[in-house]
Amino acid sequence: MNSKKKLIKNLFSIEKKNCIITGGLGGIGFKIAKLMAHNKANVIIIDRKKQNIKYKNIHCYQSDLLNENKTKNLIDKIHTKFGKIDILINALGISDENSFINNINTNLISVYNLTKIVINKMKTKGGSIVNFTSLNSELGFSNNPGYVSSKGALKMLTKSFAIDYAKYNIRVNNIGPGYIKTKMTKKRFQNKKSRNLRLSRIPFGRYGNPEELFGAIVFLISDGSKYITGQDFYVDGGFLAKGI
Ligand SMILES: NC(=O)c1ccc[n+]([C@@H]2O[C@H](COP(=O)([O-])OP(=O)(O)OC[C@H]3O[C@@H](n4cnc5c(N)ncnc54)[C@H](O)[C@@H]3O)[C@@H](O)[C@H]2O)c1
Repeated sequence: MNSKKKLIKNLFSIEKKNCIITGGLGGIGFKIAKLMAHNKANVIIIDRKKQNIKYKNIHCYQSDLLNENKTKNLIDKIHTKFGKIDILINALGISDENSFINNINTNLISVYNLTKIVINKMKTKGGSIVNFTSLNSELGFSNNPGYVSSKGALKMLTKSFAIDYAKYNIRVNNIGPGYIKTKMTKKRFQNKKSRNLRLSRIPFGRYGNPEELFGAIVFLISDGSKYITGQDFYVDGGFLAKGI
């Protein structure tokens, strides 16, 4: 390790890195995008939501990532504009209790398609990819088999990508949030019974905030985790460690 890298601030620096965040206008994605931009990364948000974001170091593209051809054209355009892609954070996702296939299409297939396209751009210089899994990647939860299946499969897709592309110095890891306060968890949070059930399972006794994922993300996208790939990191207030 050279002497510059020995300084902690340099080891974890994300300055001037070009970073795509899919689902970057979501509850978690947008908080992370702003924190990254504040730390001088060049952030490129892709989200199907339309929004006029004016924020230093953040560029926004509206696109539905279910459309593979449109996704390929968009990544070509981004690559041409910025010259390289260093980091990809897949923070898009849906939880649809009424449709098995909608969860699979968004949370698994669109992530697979987009990541393959980005990996092709990363092959010459290497890169780091973070996929958002879930407690549902480890445990079964009721009434949403599509979400559980999509997140279980995504966990393994990450490992498969990690071993296939390690030779290009492309690292791929998972972050699995526990219960984080966003639009996705709002309905259950507002219902006293289901909120208390969840709180009783979380050793910290509270939901997490999106900002509390940032440390783990910075670790995974920076040189601080240079020799780590194919791993699962749960930021869950202790949920998965708890028995009865
Ligand atoms: N919030 C939690 O407690 C929690 C827990 C575990 C896992 N996660 C995962 O973390 C990620 C982020 O969750 P969140 O809470 O920020 O959700 P969110 O609903 O606030 O944000 C998701 C974003 O993804 C975007 N999106 C969805 N489908 C898209 C598509 N086809 N093309 C482009 N953009 C699309 C949405 O527009 C939205 O902005 C998701 O993968 C989710 O499954 C969240």
